[in-house]
Amino acid sequence: MIRILTAGESHGKSLVGIIEGVPANFTIDLDSINKDLARRQLGYGRGPRMDIEKDKIEILSGIRGGKTLGSPISFLIQNKDYENWQEYMSIDGNNKEDRRVTRPRPGHADLSGIQKYSFDDIRNVLERSSARETAVRVAAGSILKGILKDFNINVLSHVIAIGGASVSDGTQDINLIKAADSSPVRCIEKSTEETILQKIQDAKLVGESLGGIFEVHIVGVPVGLGSYVHWDRKLDAKLAYSLMSIQGIKGVEMGEAFENANRLGSQTHDEIYYNSSEGYYRKTNYAGGIEGGMSNGQNIVIRCAMKPIPTLYKSLQSVDIITKEAVSASIERSDTCAVPAASVVGEMVAITVIAEEFFRKYGGDSKEEIMKRWQA
Ligand SMILES: Cc1cc2nc3c(=O)[nH]c(=O)nc-3n(C[C@H](O)[C@H](O)[C@H](O)COP(=O)(O)O)c2cc1C
Repeated sequence: MIRILTAGESHGKSLVGIIEGVPANFTIDLDSINKDLARRQLGYGRGPRMDIEKDKIEILSGIRGGKTLGSPISFLIQNKDYENWQEYMSIDGNNKEDRRVTRPRPGHADLSGIQKYSFDDIRNVLERSSARETAVRVAAGSILKGILKDFNINVLSHVIAIGGASVSDGTQDINLIKAADSSPVRCIEKSTEETILQKIQDAKLVGESLGGIFEVHIVGVPVGLGSYVHWDRKLDAKLAYSLMSIQGIKGVEMGEAFENANRLGSQTHDEIYYNSSEGYYRKTNYAGGIEGGMSNGQNIVIRCAMKPIPTLYKSLQSVDIITKEAVSASIERSDTCAVPAASVVGEMVAITVIAEEFFRKYGGDSKEEIMKRWQA
């Protein structure tokens, strides 16, 4: 069983991750993990923080000679910005007070967070609720993605809408979707990409923020990950839970779930065919590759809706937590739109769930054991 822990504050010394349960003898490619970390930092609409951070993984344990040992893999990602924050983020009692935050931002963890943990400084909340944490989840997911490549499983994503501008063609063509990496907003339809770029620029000029929708495609998933036998073993439920845990994600859709809700049954279910070379196959994938809580051998397709970024340069109404006076919400350096970055996080979170379920089904202590089971 794979277990992942993340730790670290946004402006603390570093972020930390531990992955327990990775079997032995899998090759780990640090360059491709660093490439995924860089993909998370890209995207038109990101704020100035991304100019400071150049995320790199430092492995601390669990890998020797480039291969997994079967022991917990622990790793660090340094926060380069920490050098500007040492006097405010130190673990002793000598922190300066002037970056105390007392004006909660609507849409953030700020207000409920201080009430829940009895804090009088919102910084104690925002440092951890920040999406900086997703760097660790990207690194962990990328490690697992590298391992699943040995079993021909891969994950991709693209942005299908930002700020109300949507792609006209809901393509499922993986070769087309690969091109998302070369778009500044991860959108593969040129005309929509241009509209989105303009919308982000306009939003930035007036201190606004934008949300949107991205799609994750997981290819090569064998039949039967997840199960129908118990509610908490369903693959679609596990994916929805994990994807919903990404900061700012407020909706998760399996396949064309919301469009299917308006269609007739005969237009919704993917009819079953058989031939001796391919075995069972489908001509459509409205279900998004999951039926009855199990992968059905088709590509898994998931859509995620991200709300607009809650830190706005245009002021939002709030209340000072000390004086109780009406004030404008505080402003931390912020992205205007992070949907492209979130789509990379979505890939890595989704592949983590697939890895967990893959090892549950084909599990063993080493690559060799698992490979035999998978081939059989
Ligand atoms: C990659 C990524 C980058 C984000 N960047 C920001 C940001 O710069 N400013 C901000 O206020 N929120 C940002 N968010 C969203 C907030 O972290 C999120 O809305 C907040 O933690 C509240 O959580 P919730 O929206 O899940 O309820 C980002 C989210 C992601 C996934």
